[in-house]
Amino acid sequence: MEVIIAKPDELARLAACAYEQLLRRRPDAVLGLATGSSPLAVYDELVRRHTDEGLSFAQARAFNLDEYVGLPAEHPQRYLNVIRHDFTDRVDFAPGAVQGPDGLADDLAAACTSYEDAIAAAGGVDLQIMGIGTDGHIAFNEPGSSLASSTRIKTLTEQTRADNARFFGGDVDKVPQHCLTQGLATVMRARHIVLVATGRSKADAIHQLVEGPVSAMWPGTILQHHPHVSVLVDTAAASRL
Ligand code: GLP
Repeated sequence: MEVIIAKPDELARLAACAYEQLLRRRPDAVLGLATGSSPLAVYDELVRRHTDEGLSFAQARAFNLDEYVGLPAEHPQRYLNVIRHDFTDRVDFAPGAVQGPDGLADDLAAACTSYEDAIAAAGGVDLQIMGIGTDGHIAFNEPGSSLASSTRIKTLTEQTRADNARFFGGDVDKVPQHCLTQGLATVMRARHIVLVATGRSKADAIHQLVEGPVSAMWPGTILQHHPHVSVLVDTAAASRL
């Protein structure tokens, strides 16, 4: 695990560089994408490189980490819509190249299995970007998640629903109670993981992630077992290291 402490705009450049180097080498790479505010500056930097420098995603494929259960197809907070708005519709991904778990499926368990199959059929994720929750969750693997988990249905914690209420007009009751999320074993199969965290609210989670014992109570700590993880943090997020 490499830990890089820098200013937020420099972190975004570093993460974007990892994507650019991969895509210049392998234009048909499989990209792992994440919602949340942490990757936004990275997406903005990738859009800039697409617009100004011709970085192309036309042959790439992308898989989202997670999805709320039950949000209508056109709901702006459905993660597939969020990622389109924040990133993928601003560059040149081919139609259908960006996928997420299907939170509207009649059979949610089957949707989870077919999502795992789709990632495997694509050859696995080459480069996964992600944030981390204040309670140490990655994707939507909340504290207590099995370290060996695959894509599955999870119940969101009250803390995560409260954290995410800001995206639902501040009304926690509008935040779905369930989600589909890549499991910790799924995430661990990505060949390179870039985790971005900024701000004091992430300091405990980053402290545990980097220095804590590996534990299901801080799900991000599983990344200590991954051979190629880059943790990109600002000084506030690094303040407990
Ligand atoms: C959500 C997402 C996570 C993300 C977390 C942190 O719960 N499912 O993937 O890491 O939020 O979000 P933010 O980056 O906005 O702090």
